[in-house]
Amino acid sequence: MKYFIYSGSKRINSDSNFIAERLAELIQTYNHYCVYINPINTDILEIQEDFNTNWDKKLDQWKTDLLRSDIIIFICPVYLQNVSGSFKIFLDNISQWTHTMRLVGKIGIPIFVYSSNCGTIVCSYVTRIMEFLGLYILKSYKINLSLQKEDSINRVFLDITNEITKLKHITVSQFQNEIFLNYKEVFKNNLFNRIEQKYWSNESILSYNSFQEYYEEKRKN
Ligand SMILES: Cc1cc2nc3c(=O)[nH]c(=O)nc-3n(C[C@H](O)[C@H](O)[C@H](O)COP(=O)(O)O)c2cc1C
Repeated sequence: MKYFIYSGSKRINSDSNFIAERLAELIQTYNHYCVYINPINTDILEIQEDFNTNWDKKLDQWKTDLLRSDIIIFICPVYLQNVSGSFKIFLDNISQWTHTMRLVGKIGIPIFVYSSNCGTIVCSYVTRIMEFLGLYILKSYKINLSLQKEDSINRVFLDITNEITKLKHITVSQFQNEIFLNYKEVFKNNLFNRIEQKYWSNESILSYNSFQEYYEEKRKN
């Protein structure tokens, strides 16, 4: 099983990065492959391209790692009820992938790290974007700093492992089936003559009747 972890804090003593590092260590202890990046060890720049250029023409290493992974963990520091600026820049860099649901067939796990108030805004935002990316959301976690950090990380890791072991059949969300059909209409009719259109055509995505069907096919690969 290949894991990918992105933690979105640039702070020197970031709790999110601490949690991410410990989680990556635990994953590797169980002999799984794990790539872990954050805004300090990987330079992810603000978007400068026009939306209709192919952002994937020259794939950055982290994007290649992301595409090669089976399980994607987003560790989100909660800043002002939302994701941090670094986290948003990371998402912007893969925003084109929301139009192709490019991470289809993979499992996503958002983990929110907060100090006092992790409201619904950040959780629903990140979960929604992960669904747009094509990920099946296994479960989401909130880690509050007032709890024992090590305990929380171990508990989350054990729970993730348990959830993955239990996972037999995946049913994608109703929302994902709806956006898939919506995109299908748009790309079938070539409404926007965009770069994403070519991807839909090259990958024969229009031949799938539902996102469930597409997800199951991709999961086999
Ligand atoms: C600019 C900024 C804004 C923050 N806003 C919130 C907030 O709205 N709610 C909250 O519970 N914690 C908030 N925090 C605390 C962080 O969630 C906390 O530091 C947590 O550990 C994750 O950030 P870190 O990985 O950078 O340490 C904020 C921290 C910073 C630096």
